[in-house]
Amino acid sequence: MNPFKKHICDCLEKATGLPFQEICDSLEMPPDESWGDYGWPCHNLSRSLKKNPNLIATELKSSISTEPSICSVSVKGPYLNFKLDKKEVIKYICHEIFSKGSDFAKDNIGQGKTVVIDYSSPNIAKPMGIGHLRSTVLGASLKNIFKHLGYRVVGINHLGDWGTQFGKLVVAYKRWADPQKMEKEPIEELYRLYVKIHKESEEDKSLEEESRCIFKKLEDGDPEIVTLWKKFVDLSWKDFQRIYDLLGIKFELVAGESFYNKMMSDTISLLERKNLAKLSQGALIIPLSDYEMEPLLLKKRDGSSLYGTRDLTAAIYRYNTYKFDKLLYVVGVAQSLHFKQLFKTLELMGYDWASRCHHVSFGWVTLAGEMMSTRKGNVVFLEDVLKQASAKALNIIEKNNPDLENKQQVASQVGIGAIVFTNLSVKRQTDVSFDWDRMLDFNGQTGPYLQYAHARLSSVMRKYGEDLDVKADYELLKLPEEYRLAKKLMEFPDKIVIAAKTYEPYIISSYLLDTVSLFSTYFQRYKSPRDKILSDDPRLKKARVNLSHCLKTVLKSGLNILGLEAPEKM
Ligand code: ARG
Repeated sequence: MNPFKKHICDCLEKATGLPFQEICDSLEMPPDESWGDYGWPCHNLSRSLKKNPNLIATELKSSISTEPSICSVSVKGPYLNFKLDKKEVIKYICHEIFSKGSDFAKDNIGQGKTVVIDYSSPNIAKPMGIGHLRSTVLGASLKNIFKHLGYRVVGINHLGDWGTQFGKLVVAYKRWADPQKMEKEPIEELYRLYVKIHKESEEDKSLEEESRCIFKKLEDGDPEIVTLWKKFVDLSWKDFQRIYDLLGIKFELVAGESFYNKMMSDTISLLERKNLAKLSQGALIIPLSDYEMEPLLLKKRDGSSLYGTRDLTAAIYRYNTYKFDKLLYVVGVAQSLHFKQLFKTLELMGYDWASRCHHVSFGWVTLAGEMMSTRKGNVVFLEDVLKQASAKALNIIEKNNPDLENKQQVASQVGIGAIVFTNLSVKRQTDVSFDWDRMLDFNGQTGPYLQYAHARLSSVMRKYGEDLDVKADYELLKLPEEYRLAKKLMEFPDKIVIAAKTYEPYIISSYLLDTVSLFSTYFQRYKSPRDKILSDDPRLKKARVNLSHCLKTVLKSGLNILGLEAPEKM
């Protein structure tokens, strides 16, 4: 916490006797900056003191010492407003960021705690969809957020590599696979088979039966079927890996649904022993009607396991292995009911850690305009989307900055950055629409806009050319934008904490957009020799360059947390 906020909360704690944390949490930013930098609503106290909050504010005012860092306290209605010493704020933030660099805003509130994040988790034998992309990007960013706060983070890819559909796939493969296509475009071919068998089995019910038998064989470990299944998994994983490489994504554990196969019978016996499982028309279920939910399905009539059984087993395995403080499932909103059933069942099983499991759900991703052309049949091939993004970014760079060195590399950072940022630019629950023009607009609310600001700041630093030195005459920084920027930078640590609490990387993306837009107005507004960043007054220039360096540091750190690169030139 910054020392200014701490001082205010200390004074209020002494004067009111309220808990420090409660005071901090209720401290606000006044809607009009001329009123002050922080405001505290006294109605928190009016009930217990049975007094009018305006009166309380007036009485409290005298108990706040304005030394050493606050320059005034005033009363506005029921609010106590605090104005900080501008010079001290700017000096403080510059010293803080200069000394900590990329460690600025790191915290140890997560020390000794573990967060397990189940994310990405695409399905074998199908191309990775844009919904899985959103899970991947959200999960990766949440990992960075928690790491920043000192948590141990375990990212798990819960691949969809098990289930009756693999019985279907084997049947289709044996009947219709084209060996040449399997060689050249395996995922496309597997997907074609997947679609075909689903269609055919609607007409020919015997195919359903055959598929079920084959899946049963797979669960029982029949070597021929297992070998085929392994082949499908390997081919798909190679395909996914290419996408993860493009995005720079790594997992601590890749354990698909099949990983839990051997442990599943233990889960079922446990549920039976606890009298939670019931037979219903030959199938094994957990009735949840007492909680106004459909039952969770454990086993089909033929004895084969289901998605929910594997998720129950996985949750138990994860708790036993990691003793997590949180287990987050980054999965689309379509699976809300599944997770409610899962968490309820864990609770009924008596696991007190069930309340540490959270479904971090997110809205739909759709394609707009020209993007639609990346669809093949009913699916989008992500790799094509990512490659097209880089190609489009390259076109823009060719136009704006044809002499740039390593254009290809920057283009891929920008193109992929555009896609990643689009996924994180709104609250998770909000749907997003992919649209090339909007995503890649260097002046819009986009990833490339932030990356471009970073490159501009880097260029200012290069032009400055001198070694950086934190000692500067910060009292010279009197422009309102300079103070606003310093205050904004001071908010960064709080933003990371809020993002972690709400599982919302959006808190960081919108913070970066606000901060950079402050800088852009500053940059565009002041062009006179004295007022521009590289002012003709050397003392002013030094102080401004230092503040700009701080912004650059925070911007880079924020972009990296979201999963974007911060190019020095573009
Ligand atoms: N493979 C699943 C799907 O694509 C997502 C799995 C999410 N994770 C989980 N533990 N259920 O729908």
